[in-house]
Amino acid sequence: MVYTQPVFSKRLLRTNNEISFSILARALVIIVEMQKESIYNPEFVSKLFDSMSSTYGLTNYISSFGFTERWRKACISKIKPAEKPVVIYDLMSGMGELWPSIKHSKLNVHEINAVDISPNMNSIARKNKKSVSGQINILEQDILKNDIESNSADHVVSSFGLKTFNTKQLTELAHELNKILKPEGSYSFVEISVPNNSFLKFFYMFYLTKIIPVVGYLFQGNSQDYKMLGTYTSKFGNSKSFHSMLLNEGLESHYEELFFGCGSITWGKKKKN
Ligand SMILES: C[S@@+](CC[C@H](N)C(=O)[O-])C[C@H]1O[C@@H](n2cnc3c(N)ncnc32)[C@H](O)[C@@H]1O
Repeated sequence: MVYTQPVFSKRLLRTNNEISFSILARALVIIVEMQKESIYNPEFVSKLFDSMSSTYGLTNYISSFGFTERWRKACISKIKPAEKPVVIYDLMSGMGELWPSIKHSKLNVHEINAVDISPNMNSIARKNKKSVSGQINILEQDILKNDIESNSADHVVSSFGLKTFNTKQLTELAHELNKILKPEGSYSFVEISVPNNSFLKFFYMFYLTKIIPVVGYLFQGNSQDYKMLGTYTSKFGNSKSFHSMLLNEGLESHYEELFFGCGSITWGKKKKN
């Protein structure tokens, strides 16, 4: 006797297979999305910089051909000096890389409050602050959960600290900036960016994602951490969307590209009450 499976049960089997496949595919998409988002988890970011802290300064300087130093100066140059002594907040301050540029500017600094989430970056910053005169306080905090008093900053500055935030976090950062600044207080953020020109973009991204990890490997014995900086940069793009978020917050904001879009800077001020 030949057993023939009823047509409806074959269909049922196929439908079940299709359903299982689509559930599996959906689960995979969710896992990939979760992994993508976990790189923005503050704990992950803090550990990444803890791990890079011993080599970050040198690797950063060598691999950027000194551009990062110039761009830090450009960031500070957007802040207009005033006669009265000012309170400056340096956000995502790392090891205090912005402080020499602040020191050599015409800003009349009363104190610098440096905010960074990474204990190891902060511990090097504590040593570095001895070489920069003036009052520097290091606040080990997640800037998105800070306890900084409202309207307490004359100026807020930040170099290369935007790329490790996703869109939602950048919106929160814009809100925190608005909270921290005094009315008429000014700010400036600089970040490494992806240029629009496809020729330059190809070489620049190749450099960020392939060459810098090798430099990281040579100094740190680990290329993965430095590879992450390329990943963050390619997801970040440039500071244009952050600039729009600042405008939406009601802040005055300007946007400028540096070196054909390899860097971008956004600066402005909080309006008078
Ligand atoms: C690329 S480093 C930039 C350091 C320095 N500003 C510079 O010019 O090189 C980014 C820094 O942002 C800090 N950071 C990242 N997310 C943060 C957060 N949510 N709150 C405070 N600091 C954060 C990291 O710990 C790291 O030290």
